[in-house]
Amino acid sequence: MPSDQTFAKLPGFRDFVPADLALRNHIFAAWRDVCRRFGFQEYDGPPLEPLGLYVEKSGPEIVEQLYCFADKGGRDVALRPEMTPTLARMLAGRSRGMAKPIRWFSIPQLFRYERSQKGRLREHFQLNADIVGEPAVSADAEVAAVAIDAVRALGLGRQDFVARVNDRRLVTAVLDALGVAATQRGGCLAAIDKAGRAGPEKTGAALTALGIGASAAAALAELVEDGSREHIRSRFAGDDRVQAAMLPLEEHRGILEAMGLGDYLQFDFTVVRGLAYYTGIVFELFDRAGEMRAICGGGRYDRLLELVGGEPLPAVGFGMGDVVLAELLRDRGLAPDAPPGCDDFVIWVEPAQRPLGISVARRLRGAGRTVLYDLRHRGVGKQLRSAARAGAARAVIIGPEEAAGGAVTLRDLASGRQRTAPIDAIPGALDADSTTSGTGGGG
Ligand code: HAM
Repeated sequence: MPSDQTFAKLPGFRDFVPADLALRNHIFAAWRDVCRRFGFQEYDGPPLEPLGLYVEKSGPEIVEQLYCFADKGGRDVALRPEMTPTLARMLAGRSRGMAKPIRWFSIPQLFRYERSQKGRLREHFQLNADIVGEPAVSADAEVAAVAIDAVRALGLGRQDFVARVNDRRLVTAVLDALGVAATQRGGCLAAIDKAGRAGPEKTGAALTALGIGASAAAALAELVEDGSREHIRSRFAGDDRVQAAMLPLEEHRGILEAMGLGDYLQFDFTVVRGLAYYTGIVFELFDRAGEMRAICGGGRYDRLLELVGGEPLPAVGFGMGDVVLAELLRDRGLAPDAPPGCDDFVIWVEPAQRPLGISVARRLRGAGRTVLYDLRHRGVGKQLRSAARAGAARAVIIGPEEAAGGAVTLRDLASGRQRTAPIDAIPGALDADSTTSGTGGGG
């Protein structure tokens, strides 16, 4: 019985028609290639995890956005909103005995019940590249370089995007220097994190509402406005902890400068990252114009593996989404052309030549060529139109004469030039480029 129901796509979810999937695959191919060049190995995990993995470890923002439910066995489960807790869980059970540092990457599809808007959906794919087991700043610089190169590999350059870098330890040292109590720290970090979008007034109000005291709130509002390294250095000139907390960032910059990536870096006191587990240097990639949401975010999280029951292992990594990146590529005309049509379109003049045509198509496909033919018998003119519609480069035509002589007629569909070639020489003969002009061949 025909149904009168229509089924709309869920908000925030995407259909990938071939042209969209071609762009997604293009992005994935670039990501995989960059990760391979940096010696990362690909892994994956389950899309559904125990709810508890996120409740404790990801922080309140992500937990509010979870797709979660009780499964038929009564387990509380959640669709993965991010990959880092899964990575921590996987390594907690395996890392003992593994050579360190571990360099792993993955491209999971993630689910967050967010308000859908430009650059933010309810599902996205995210490149995750993480180094586990190495506390040195060079590991932080290495993953930042992977992130920068993963965007550069798609044709975007220093005029298009920037990496904004900060250190959670520096922000904590500044908060301590301003007399902010440890209990107010989380609220302050959240207000600083939102400062870019909220503006100075709302940020000032949010900080005051935390009850941190007028002078500390004013000093923080000032840092949010001008949080340059020079400003922080002079404002906290007498504070050894703040001064010391700036050193890892200097080393980080030095390493990335040695890689020729210094121009991509920008220190930014407001980058603190919304997730709960970060402990050190943090960074985010943004389009230079600042019009879009973050392309990527990451940082150091030295305690997460221990928190999920593993050995205490330092870790650092990032997540880079496909949504903003695809928007940027389309915007800059860097999305690849539609997927290629076909190499050969096989045409038979009469139904009697169909078995031979199908076997020729089979041999060409076996040789790696993309081959199509009409699935219903039609006149040669219509088959040629099908070939043109399919974007075929060449028609392989078989009429009674060709069949009797063990040959095919090859027609270059752009120039109209054609020649005959013996079937026995397929695919070699079909690949040879000597052609003769003519119009025959059963057309
Ligand atoms: P995140 O900042 O939540 O970090 O996400 C990283 C990136 O994923 C964002 O910068 C953005 O490009 C993309 N993204 C996140 N949510 C959405 C959404 N709703 N729609 C489209 N794109 C989105 C993490 O997830 C960390 N686990 C990353 C990490 C890995 N840190 C260390 N290792």
